[in-house]
Amino acid sequence: MYQSIVIESRSREEVETTVRAGVLEQGTVDMLRETGVGARLDREAFFHRGVYLRFAGRTHHVDMQELTGGKRVTLYAQQEVVKDLIQARLDAGGEVLFDVSDVALADITSNRPAISFRHAGNVGRIACDFIVGCDGTHGVSRHSLPEGTLTRHERVYAFGWFGITVEAPPSSDELIYSRHDRGFALVSTRSRTLQRMYFQCDPSERTDAWSDDRIWAEMRARLETHDGWKPVEGPIIQKIVVAMRSLVFEPMQHGNLLLAGDAAHVVPPTGAKGLNLAAADVRVLARALQRFYASGSRDGLDGYSAKCLGRVWKAQRFSYWMTTLMHRADGESSFDRNRQLAELDYLVHSPAAMTSFAENYVGLPY
Ligand code: PHB
Repeated sequence: MYQSIVIESRSREEVETTVRAGVLEQGTVDMLRETGVGARLDREAFFHRGVYLRFAGRTHHVDMQELTGGKRVTLYAQQEVVKDLIQARLDAGGEVLFDVSDVALADITSNRPAISFRHAGNVGRIACDFIVGCDGTHGVSRHSLPEGTLTRHERVYAFGWFGITVEAPPSSDELIYSRHDRGFALVSTRSRTLQRMYFQCDPSERTDAWSDDRIWAEMRARLETHDGWKPVEGPIIQKIVVAMRSLVFEPMQHGNLLLAGDAAHVVPPTGAKGLNLAAADVRVLARALQRFYASGSRDGLDGYSAKCLGRVWKAQRFSYWMTTLMHRADGESSFDRNRQLAELDYLVHSPAAMTSFAENYVGLPY
């Protein structure tokens, strides 16, 4: 019987309540269902046909379900996925250690790598076959590798997102991505009573400089339409500023340490790909590990990075494209502005362009 142990530095409460991403690709939803953790999602998620693109005061619907032969956009918060995964793991008798500190990796390139850590006042050490680093871009896993082991590919953007969580009913039946001369804005949702919205800001913007009134004035301005559309306002219960970047570390493995998700790559949030890429990595890795334990073959494991990076780079391309399509660039010229508007106009009037957008947004096939 092979075992896996999950080591998490934060508390269960914290990982289950931190508001993060919210959009699942069709393939991520299918995988959750196939793995037996889709029941609550099926009851509680919102399933959208597509998204709205708003620019020059007009709103255009992109019917992704129609364009992709039935794939949908699923709104189900990341912390809900995390709750379902933790519960399923514990129900299956799996071990998940929360509030772990002082994590250090050893002997990564040997066939018996080890993790040492502190948990509940004790010092622990686990010797294992493989370590999977799913600890995000600032986690210890990737930082345990000697300098120069991985190649870093990076693009930093001059803007960030100001995110708010609002107590109000949904403003729209589907997400609205809005391009405006004042900058990008996004209307998303979490539930019938909690909404999530964002607007482009300076990455060094401070949340306390923004009163609720100032935020709503900015959101109304950036979401304005010729027919007088307005977001449904309500108390803002959370404000955050997130910086944006595109980042890939290559290869996504070293010895018997395998990196997954943000530990290996980061996308700007515009294409909603972060969580979905992490799920796709784990899908490849699970198959490679199954193969190794069934037959002793390392082929799947040795090919892990190359296999994941094919998808990662396509998601990077898409996220970069959508980010530069929708955001106001620093020192934007009238040429940039008109090119952007022309590209959006082309996108919503060309079935070919819209299909390309839709198939990337709902998720490329595995
Ligand atoms: C979100 O709801 O948090 C969200 C939705 C769409 C995005 C990014 C974030 O592209």
